[in-house]
Amino acid sequence: MSLVIAIDGPSGSGKSTLAKRLAAHHGLAYLDTGSMYRVATVWCLDTGVDLDDQDAVAEATRAMPLEMVTDPAGPRVLLDGVDVTDRLHTGEISTVVSTVAVNLAVRAEMKARQRAIIDSERTGGRSGGRGIVAEGRDITTVVAPDADVRILLIADPTDRLARRAMERHGAADEKSLEATRDEVIRRDTQDSTVSEFMSAHEGVVTLDNSGMVPDETFAAALAIIEDRVR
Ligand code: DC
Repeated sequence: MSLVIAIDGPSGSGKSTLAKRLAAHHGLAYLDTGSMYRVATVWCLDTGVDLDDQDAVAEATRAMPLEMVTDPAGPRVLLDGVDVTDRLHTGEISTVVSTVAVNLAVRAEMKARQRAIIDSERTGGRSGGRGIVAEGRDITTVVAPDADVRILLIADPTDRLARRAMERHGAADEKSLEATRDEVIRRDTQDSTVSEFMSAHEGVVTLDNSGMVPDETFAAALAIIEDRVR
């Protein structure tokens, strides 16, 4: 059976960890839509496009030769045939990606591309029509409101900040927390001007994983999926 699972939530809520694990567990493809906004940023910087020039950024995004590899065991992002995955989470990109992500013409292009990937995986793309787990900020609401299961994954800001600091700096001490604060708090505020990912739309199940370890979040999500697709 082809299953489409959509997961939204703010930075540090644990979306990627959960989405990859669910995809592997159910034999589904995996799409990290945040990395599509990140690669658009890389593309603009590499081709000399001024990120404040909204029309130029939108035009560059539409022309971007992008391939998303949707294997949950090794998701990769290819730009003009070159694997740029390792460049996507550098501080240089994280600091400015929101400028690209709040560009409405960019969002329209991304929605079309994401929808095409989801439809292809649903009906017989690379994964043989098994389905997909897609995660981001507007997947449950704008990109795939028709998904079989829609989850909004949230957590307290202190938990989210600590998780991101561990991920980026390997520690959650005061210095690491401070270095991560911009990415989690300022960026979520900017991103929430164009997507609603702090409260669930009708039909979207909220999973608050504050204080939970990844195994507990996974178990809670499995229960939601079982309940929805029964
Ligand atoms: O999840 P992330 O940190 O990799 O996302 C990168 C940026 O893209 C971040 O500013 C949020 C934005 N984003 C978005 O606006 N819509 C999505 N579906 C996914 C990410």
